[in-house]
Amino acid sequence: MRMFDIIKHKRDGLELTEEEIAFFVRGYADGSIPDYQASALAMAIYYQGMSARETGWLTTHMACSGDQVDLSRIPGIKVDKHSTGGVGDKTTWAVAPIVASLGVPVAKMSGRGLGHTGGTLDKLESIPGLCVEQPLERFFEIVHEVGVAVVGQTGNLVPADKKLYALRDVTATIDSIPLIASSVMSKKIAAGADRILLDVKCGSGAFMKTPEDAVKLAQAMVAIGEEVGRTTVALISDMDRPLGLAIGNALEVMEAADVLKGCAPDDITQTCLELAANMLVLAEQGSLDECRAMARRQVANGEAFERMKLMVGALGGDARVLDDYALFGQAACSKDVAAPRAGYLCHMDTEGIGMASVALGAGRAKKEDAIDMLAGIRLAAKTGDRVEQGAVLATLYAATPELLEEGERRLLASLEFADEPVAERPHFFARVSCAGVEAYD
Ligand code: URA
Repeated sequence: MRMFDIIKHKRDGLELTEEEIAFFVRGYADGSIPDYQASALAMAIYYQGMSARETGWLTTHMACSGDQVDLSRIPGIKVDKHSTGGVGDKTTWAVAPIVASLGVPVAKMSGRGLGHTGGTLDKLESIPGLCVEQPLERFFEIVHEVGVAVVGQTGNLVPADKKLYALRDVTATIDSIPLIASSVMSKKIAAGADRILLDVKCGSGAFMKTPEDAVKLAQAMVAIGEEVGRTTVALISDMDRPLGLAIGNALEVMEAADVLKGCAPDDITQTCLELAANMLVLAEQGSLDECRAMARRQVANGEAFERMKLMVGALGGDARVLDDYALFGQAACSKDVAAPRAGYLCHMDTEGIGMASVALGAGRAKKEDAIDMLAGIRLAAKTGDRVEQGAVLATLYAATPELLEEGERRLLASLEFADEPVAERPHFFARVSCAGVEAYD
């Protein structure tokens, strides 16, 4: 078999065979297929797409390219949650303790941020002492002791995707439905959960810009999950504005803690409660309405917040920071950004805002970049809000005044104003499962 022929078949719109896909995954992971041929295939897939069968084969061969975690030692139904990525998305960090506080184990491996999206692990590491790189045995012990552990992926989880994702990132082939679906699902399958809840984002800060495309991506992922016997449900949620008001690692940890203290902004609170309720349904804890009530109760009675502190302690972190945010420390410089005109904030280019936070030092432009845990943006206005000229739109945090200047320039370039009010967007658009697509109520 020759890689040349595989590229040619896909370029000409043919369906690849399972053998061809296995040959590519194996060869790319072991280095015998060079980057230039893998890039050509990724671009051919970008233009020609893949059938459901091809996407399924690509997923399973990637999932088997490295270690596979066996969670069967943990009793009960293990439900994983995955977001396709966005700006200000700190949901995992609040949702996992809610679910765990109801006795449903959460054993989760998360990733780091790249580009405009933040990563759960980077956020957690803003807590002094906390270590997300835990040996597998300790990971199991923590789940056993406190019911919840969110840690880094083992070094050898889906190495084929690690290489292919990095290549796609620099060859303009990220936003392809079969490539995203196989990338996400190969990691979820290898990470071992029985059931999977996907949070598929749509809007200006997401890979999928419209709810319709997000539904297509969700359907591809749900089909893969069902094919390999992992019940998978996807919620389509809004990423046309940042989630919550905080963007940046320590700022987001504080806001996630606020969700569990009952004092966070409404959009992030509702999103976390809904995700937790859907995870509880997948874990067979009751109907959606019952699970919504259970999730709300765990926040109101403080048990979810206590569980968050236990997890932080078990990962070696100083949980006192969650009660006293001053212990995080403070960025060296800060600056208020003023509204350039009066009017309604009518659109937020959410990817642009994510890049503004990267420019402040809160994220990575390249994998090797260091992150400033205290840098970021605290928004004071979001889409739909009316502001007067000169009113504070956001406060920026960074290590130097130069970084603040660049962050301000990028933030202002990402905001649009109008004289008329704009229609509210829902937090959730649809739920996609093997039963079909339901509009969200
Ligand atoms: N997240 C992933 O893990 N893979 C993609 O391709 C896109 C988002």
